[in-house]
Amino acid sequence: MPTKIDMAKFAKFCKDMGFIYQSSEIYGGINGFWDYGPLGVELKKNIKDAWWQDMVRNPPPGPDGQEIRMVGLDCSIIMNPKVWVASGHVGTFADPTRKCSGCGRFVRADQLWAILAESTWMNSLIQEFEPVTGKYDTRVLMKWAKGKGQKLAPNLALVRNPEVTLAFLATRVNGQPDAPPTLQEMTQHIATEQLNATGLQDPCPNCGGPLGEAKPFTLMLESHTGMEKNEESKVYLRPETAQGIFVNYRNVLDSTRLKLPFGIAQSGKSFRNEVTPRNFTFRSREFEQMEIEFFCHPDESVKWYEYWRDLRKKWYSTLGVKSENLIPREQAADELAFYSKGTTDIEYMFPFSEEPQELEGVAHRGDYDLTQHANHSGMAEKFAYFDEDRWNADAATRTTNSFKEWMKTNPPAEAVAKYQFTPHVIEPSAGADRFTLAVLCEAYTEDEVPDANGKVEKRVLMKFHPRLAPIKAAIFPLVNKDGMPEKAMGLYRSLKPHFNVFFDDKGAVGRRYRRQDEAGTPFCITIDGQTLTDDTVTIRDRDTLKQDRVKIADVKAFIEKALFPG
Ligand code: GAP
Repeated sequence: MPTKIDMAKFAKFCKDMGFIYQSSEIYGGINGFWDYGPLGVELKKNIKDAWWQDMVRNPPPGPDGQEIRMVGLDCSIIMNPKVWVASGHVGTFADPTRKCSGCGRFVRADQLWAILAESTWMNSLIQEFEPVTGKYDTRVLMKWAKGKGQKLAPNLALVRNPEVTLAFLATRVNGQPDAPPTLQEMTQHIATEQLNATGLQDPCPNCGGPLGEAKPFTLMLESHTGMEKNEESKVYLRPETAQGIFVNYRNVLDSTRLKLPFGIAQSGKSFRNEVTPRNFTFRSREFEQMEIEFFCHPDESVKWYEYWRDLRKKWYSTLGVKSENLIPREQAADELAFYSKGTTDIEYMFPFSEEPQELEGVAHRGDYDLTQHANHSGMAEKFAYFDEDRWNADAATRTTNSFKEWMKTNPPAEAVAKYQFTPHVIEPSAGADRFTLAVLCEAYTEDEVPDANGKVEKRVLMKFHPRLAPIKAAIFPLVNKDGMPEKAMGLYRSLKPHFNVFFDDKGAVGRRYRRQDEAGTPFCITIDGQTLTDDTVTIRDRDTLKQDRVKIADVKAFIEKALFPG
């Protein structure tokens, strides 16, 4: 598991270093929206570039060793709203949500207890119970209710009406001494003012007030196009990039003459009006996805599903995520969507959660999406695929090689489906921001190293894989004299066209190292007295602190080898 990190401290570190800022911070921020600073934008770009390079331009061979055909797309964020009716998002893309009658805030019903566990008032109140047994002292709770509770949870029943609430709680606890209430039941008791009228109530994580019934809350963000704002001009900001791929499936086939199996990839912004954005950038309202829709013959779909599931997990490991922190979770049969033959969530053990959380979903979507668009667009013929290769391979088994003529012989449906069918789709769908957050969490390390005088000091370092590191190398002149700055600048300029490198001639070398360790720069290259005599430099490794002496002419190859070992 990654080392537990204090997320507030971590978010501050990310801000101070220029990885991630709160959006519109000077106006108080906006919930669920984030900006990437100078280091963060490089990190996220490296992640997206690595995905594009490894999945679209240079995917590894398929399950039978065959080349994989992949192409990319870049679709508009706003599409014809009929797309979202066909995909089912307009009708069903909603989360169960409960409204607080005290402060009016909404909370996701299916995540209530996890959100409550993080709430300020709950964390304060829990200190007043005896750990493990959950026993309590009425006077202590009364004191909390009249003190801290007034400020933290003004609408909690325990705060509004402590005598009555505590009397109900005592009746429950004393009435069944052999079955003490769970923490959840205890929480419901202190949230209930009129037990007989309402039954046990669930409290609001914000103010403690009672929550109403769960109702579906659409996640679709709306806007309008044109001059008039009415139902006709209503449009949606896409909640996933996938639908742009499905609606362009025929265009891609026609313009590229690709044959099955093949994949179409797209990365870009998606928007969801999340009820409870939380855990830093983990659940945002604006985020980027990296999605592949891989189209194949239905008979081969399970093989391709397994291929993508395994490949995608491996990809994260090749970029430095430890295998033990990556947990693929195959959904149980009763969790699957009706059209799916399998879905695996590749989960990551984020340090803010006790449970692993989804990084990417790899889903077998069957022919659901293409069939929906075939039916809704009225262009079914555009979505049927004729597999010419399979047809020609079986030529010897028929008297005619004309599919049309053969169809007149009324062949059985299963025989036709071998040649003409709606492709099945395997969808590996990853989040660029979620993976960026995972990479930041995974890289964050605190250790102790000796300073220039041998005194041990604490340092924070970001152990990014060199391929993802925002800055690949920093170049320092040891001192600002004897031609060292000029030599260092020369090396910097020769590396700059190839890598994101940084020149730093300010302050003591030790301090320059620390700054780069915090930025996650894998190599610090120093020009010293010896450089002037033999054209060699020292290259310091961020993680091991080992210094190699390398010829200036070999520095580029040294960095390249670290980026793409093997
Ligand atoms: N087309 C399938 C699809 O969109 P999803 O599981 O809803 O599936 C795929 O989303 C990925 O997108 C997730 O695994 C996650 O990495 C990312 N994602 C989804 N909602 C997100 C949010 N609110 N904030 C950040 N990333 C999100």
